[in-house]
Amino acid sequence: MSVNNSHSVEIGQIFTPIKWAEWLIERWGIFDAWIEGASICDPTAGQGAFALALFRLARSRGIRIAPELLSRLTLIEVRASHLQAFQRKARQKFEIDFPPSQLLALDVITNPPNTNHDILFGNPPWANFTDLSDSYKEILKLHFVSEGLVPDKKQVLLGSSRTDIAALVLKVVLGKLLHENGIGCFFVPLSLFSGDAHRGFRDYIASGRRFAVDEVLEFTATKVFESIGTSYCCARFRMDVPHKFPVKYFRERSGNWIEHRAVPLKASDDQWRVLQRGDTADLDSSIKVELSPDQKPRQGVNTCGANAIFMFEDKPKYLPGEFLFPLATKEIWKNGDMVPHKWILLPYNRNTGRPLSWDCIEQYADLKQYLTEGRGKLAGRRGTLIQSAIAKGVWWSLLGVGPYSFAPYKVIWEAYGKRDFHPFILSSEKGQVWQANQAMQAFIPCWNEADAERICSALQHPGIPALLRQLNGEGKCNWAQPGKIRKILSL
Ligand SMILES: C[S@@+](CC[C@H](N)C(=O)[O-])C[C@H]1O[C@@H](n2cnc3c(N)ncnc32)[C@H](O)[C@@H]1O
Repeated sequence: MSVNNSHSVEIGQIFTPIKWAEWLIERWGIFDAWIEGASICDPTAGQGAFALALFRLARSRGIRIAPELLSRLTLIEVRASHLQAFQRKARQKFEIDFPPSQLLALDVITNPPNTNHDILFGNPPWANFTDLSDSYKEILKLHFVSEGLVPDKKQVLLGSSRTDIAALVLKVVLGKLLHENGIGCFFVPLSLFSGDAHRGFRDYIASGRRFAVDEVLEFTATKVFESIGTSYCCARFRMDVPHKFPVKYFRERSGNWIEHRAVPLKASDDQWRVLQRGDTADLDSSIKVELSPDQKPRQGVNTCGANAIFMFEDKPKYLPGEFLFPLATKEIWKNGDMVPHKWILLPYNRNTGRPLSWDCIEQYADLKQYLTEGRGKLAGRRGTLIQSAIAKGVWWSLLGVGPYSFAPYKVIWEAYGKRDFHPFILSSEKGQVWQANQAMQAFIPCWNEADAERICSALQHPGIPALLRQLNGEGKCNWAQPGKIRKILSL
C-alpha cells in the first residue's frame, strides 16, 4: 500500500455508520452471497465500514471468517491511511489480519485496478464537479466526457457543472470492476435519479456496458448520514441488462417502506417521477403552454456572495434610483401586499441587459464611489462564471441578469423548498420592474400584459404541482426550478 498523493483525498469523507452498511448488506442479500462464494469489493472503501459490517454479521451468525472468505473481499480507497485504519479496526475488533494484497490504495477513476467482482457495495464520494479542486477537475474532465456524463459540455469545460462525482465513480466502477451480470449496491445522492444535471448518468451505460437500476429506497425520515443536506437513497444496479421502467421504488413512511414505482418524466433519460398506487403514468397534455424562445423560465439574480453589497432592506437614497429594483421576497406570497421588503442594485443597461460600462458608471458619482468601495469584495468573488466576467474587468457584474430581467412583466413563483405552486404576475413599482432572488424564485419574462395573463392562468393547472410532487422536489431546493417547469410546460 503506497501513500497516494492524489488530488481527490479530501473528497466525500462521510463514512457510513456500520449499522447502516449492515442494513444495506442484509436488504440485498450480500452477506449470504459472500458466504456462498461471491467476490465482493468496496471501490471507495474509506475505513472499511462495509467490510466491517460483513465481519459483524458473520460474528452474529457464528460464522468463522476463514482466509478463503477474506480472499473474496477487496477494498479500494484513494487514501492509504484510511485502509490502514481499517486494518487496525479489523484486528482490534475481529482479530482479523486482513490480507494487504486486497487493499488497493489508488484512485479508482483515473487508475482502476484490473480486478473483477460479482458484487460492489459502498458509498461513493458525493461532491459537485464545481466544488472539486481546479487541478482535480482538470484531470476528471476527460473522464466525465468519456462516461457521457456531460449534460453541458461547455459548463464542464469551464469547470462548472452540477454533475456529482458519485455519478462518475459509479459509472467507472460498474463498468470496469464487475463480472458479467454483476451487481452494485450503493448509498447515493437522490439527484442521480431526480436531478436534471444527471441526464448523462441516466443513459444507463457504464464504460460501454448497459446497466439497469432495479430497486431504489429513498430515505425521507431516517438520518443514515448526520448533518447532510443532500437527499439520498440506496440503489441496486445490475450490469449487462437493459434498464426498464417502472423501477421498484420504496419511500420511507412512519417507519415502513412503502412501494411506489418510478418512470421517467418523458424521455428515457429524463428525471424520474415517483408514482403512488393509483397514479397514472400518462401525462396530461393540457399542461402544455406555448412560450416564445425568449421566454425561457429563469432563475433570479445571483450576486455570487455579494448580497451585502447589492441588496438593501430599505431603498438607499444615496444611489441612483434608476438602478435600484424591488426584490421579490417571501412576504409577497405570505401577505400578497406587493410592497417591496428588499431592493437590489443592478448597475446594468436595461435595454441591452448588459452591465454598464465603467465610462457610464463614472457619470454617476455616487454609484461610482459605492462600487469602488466594494471593489475588493466584488473582484474577489469565487465561481467560474463570475470569475470570467471579473477577468474581463467587469467586476460589478452579477449572474442571472439579461434583457429578460427588465421585461415589464414577470410570471413569478417560489422555486425553492416549497410544497405548493402559486405563480402570479409582478410588473413594476414606480417604473422599476421587480426582480427575482437567485434560486428562491423563478419567472417567465413577458413583454405585454395579455401574454403575462395567458401564461399565468395556464400555470394555475392543478397538474403542475401534482407533477412537481411526483418529480420528488417537495420541500427540496429544486422544488419548482426553472428547468423543471420548462420541461413540464413543453410536455
Ligand atoms: C463517502 S466516503 C465512503 C467510504 C466508505 N465506503 C463508507 O461507506 O464508509 C467515500 C470515500 O471515497 C474515497 N474516494 C474519493 N475519491 C476516490 C477515488 N477517486 N478513488 C478511490 N477512493 C476515493 C474518499 O477518500 C472516501 O473515503
